[in-house]
Amino acid sequence: MAQEDVFKKLVAHCKEYGFVFPSSEIYDGLAAVYDYGQYGVELKNNIKKYWWDSLVLLHENIVGLDAAIFMHPTIWKASGHVDAFNDPLVDNRDSKKRYRADVLIEDQMAKYEGKILKEVEKARKRFGEDFDEEQFRSTNQRVLRNQEKLEKLHSRYVRAMNDSDLEELWQIIIDEEIVCPISGTRNWTEVRQFNLMFSTEMGSTAESASKIYLRPETAQGIFVNYLNVQKSGRMKIPFGIAQTGKAFRNEIVARQFIFRMREFEQMEMQFFVPPGTELEWFRYWKEARMKWHRALGFGDDHYRFHDHDKLAHYANAATDIEYRFPFGFKEVEGIHSRTDFDLGSHQEYSGKKMQYFDPDTNQNYVPYVVETSIGLDRMFLQIISAAYHEEELIKEDGTRDSRVVLRLPPVLAPVKLAVFPLTKKDNLPEKARSIVNELKFDFNCQYEEKDSIGKRYRRQDAIGTPYCITVDHQTLQDNTVTIRYRDSMKQDRVGIPNLKATIKEKVDISNLLKQL
Ligand code: GAP
Repeated sequence: MAQEDVFKKLVAHCKEYGFVFPSSEIYDGLAAVYDYGQYGVELKNNIKKYWWDSLVLLHENIVGLDAAIFMHPTIWKASGHVDAFNDPLVDNRDSKKRYRADVLIEDQMAKYEGKILKEVEKARKRFGEDFDEEQFRSTNQRVLRNQEKLEKLHSRYVRAMNDSDLEELWQIIIDEEIVCPISGTRNWTEVRQFNLMFSTEMGSTAESASKIYLRPETAQGIFVNYLNVQKSGRMKIPFGIAQTGKAFRNEIVARQFIFRMREFEQMEMQFFVPPGTELEWFRYWKEARMKWHRALGFGDDHYRFHDHDKLAHYANAATDIEYRFPFGFKEVEGIHSRTDFDLGSHQEYSGKKMQYFDPDTNQNYVPYVVETSIGLDRMFLQIISAAYHEEELIKEDGTRDSRVVLRLPPVLAPVKLAVFPLTKKDNLPEKARSIVNELKFDFNCQYEEKDSIGKRYRRQDAIGTPYCITVDHQTLQDNTVTIRYRDSMKQDRVGIPNLKATIKEKVDISNLLKQL
């Protein structure tokens, strides 16, 4: 099945099974805004906990913060967002659709990459085991021609983006003969800058109201509080502050479901270090964050680093951790060495000292900052797209069946176990409920008695429940139940007193954290 079709099915699955709903759906929705349903919110909370515990529990020099969304408007002037948090946009006059110029050009580069890959895969099939990819790439004329076009376009694009040269971006779109995917024409307007911040007014009367912004990143709440935390917590550099919370961006191109939203949640950690050590810490956090992703067990080859060509105004090094989504490798997390830009700038704009006194060296300095910044919604999409599987099954009697299963890491699964009485009579429901009543203090449990056991299994597979427990007549005699494992669909008979330990072994977050 084509990857786009898989993605469409995933989006439909998220709605059907209570993970993600379009916002304001009865009013036809609100573009790029989504609500999380009963299972979505559990999965989201579990991801957040994995992130939070891996930083705040496991590092004695990292603490948390919960800053307000509304902040003094000068903060966004100091941070550079008022002047520089822009996307270059271009309109197609025929379709009246608006695009990000950089995205159109990046898509064009992806087309060249796609053509090269197609040639390589064709040759791999033709030559079989003897295929030497390196030699093929360096000699095949079609590959070489596309590689040359790609490299030329890439260096032109990087230059234009670094210089914020809007005319050159427009010229690239024209020279590459990029067409609007809707109208198919090249009737483009000029490229313009568009600020991504949402603003509103604070104050009761028009005269006293002042313009404030909905934060486009959570990081600034950490910067302006860093001395409060350092002093009240007697923190010694190096130390980190972690925060999760909503951020808002008026994205021009909102697409791919919850990948790019206008209201989303970030999980950010700013790590304050002595000047001159930031690149060492940058490397440290790069590796640590990759390890965090890989510990989820979706396959190491699904992740890669993508070092930035164009550095943001505040950074001296930056990389993305990318995941292979059904629509290609895309950023999930950014790791940025932000220098002393933010603290230095807040010192200048506020007139307040942002310096740290280092007792080891007896020196005052403005710390440098390494940031790890991950979108919670994007991480949610990464996990759910990795977990989504459609499977063909052959039953014991030889007939065919199929199922959709979310192979979620058990630690993250919204429901950890479902308990079913085999029938609705003979005291089986009461026995099943007594198991739920005992285990609900430790795990998110569900009780289900409607439909056949097979149908109940399918419903739990679809929401990723790792364990299903069935209470049958034997249970009443020997206090044992069947436990059915989601991924293998195998079943074991276990004593009720052993259930808690069996389930805990796989769903306990400490086992995941110990891998880090
Ligand atoms: N403080 C740095 C910062 O905000 P960023 O690369 O702009 O850096 C960090 O954003 C992460 O936030 C991204 O890697 C992505 O996971 C998430 N993110 C950014 N914009 C988003 C959007 N419109 N919708 C969903 N997630 C987004």
